[in-house]
Amino acid sequence: MDLSELFEIAQKERASEKPVQIRCCIAAGCLSANSQAVKQRLEEAVTAENLAETVEVHGVGCMRLCCQGPLVQVERNTEPESLGTLYEKVTPDDAHSIITALNGGKTTVQQGDLTHPFFTYQMPIVLENSGKVDPERIQSYIAAEGYQALYHALREMTPSEVVDAITRSGLRGRGGAGYPTGLKWATVAKAKSDEQSDRKFVICNADEGDPGAFIYGSQRPRK
Ligand code: FES
Repeated sequence: MDLSELFEIAQKERASEKPVQIRCCIAAGCLSANSQAVKQRLEEAVTAENLAETVEVHGVGCMRLCCQGPLVQVERNTEPESLGTLYEKVTPDDAHSIITALNGGKTTVQQGDLTHPFFTYQMPIVLENSGKVDPERIQSYIAAEGYQALYHALREMTPSEVVDAITRSGLRGRGGAGYPTGLKWATVAKAKSDEQSDRKFVICNADEGDPGAFIYGSQRPRK
């Protein structure tokens, strides 16, 4: 696949977006508080209210305020400057009133404040797309410019340029040690290969054992 094919998928995905996007967090914290049932009831309510042409319900990754989950965020493409509406501690029984509120109905579901310093003091870097991308649809990630950096690293940079870029970025692990990623990658790059086959094997631990901790996923904006 080349870059133009990625762009094509991204464009198609963006063009097919419905005017109202409802994001329901289905990451570990909200999932354990029944968000899958919330998502299902939201989808049923969209159908019951004949809104399927204009309203789309997505499951998304963690929206960061796990303690108030399950979280649901409503955004309208017609209001790109607006942060949308955030609903907190949503139960399956709340789903219908969230949908009727789209057309001016009343809802008593608890609303969060997306302008609260908890959100505004954070500058998500590694997690910039968390809470926006549907983890069950790869097109959703591609539409958020996913894989472009990987493409650039694999096709347009040398291995040492990649290690250097990661070292300069200051990226660190998100576990307790916060180990510098550039140092880790430089060590791996220096490893001697098996002399006969000249092959190296990289074993990557892809488990996030500390869900929702965001230890190094975001930081305060620099002045
Ligand atoms: S798991 Fe839903 S907000 Fe973090």
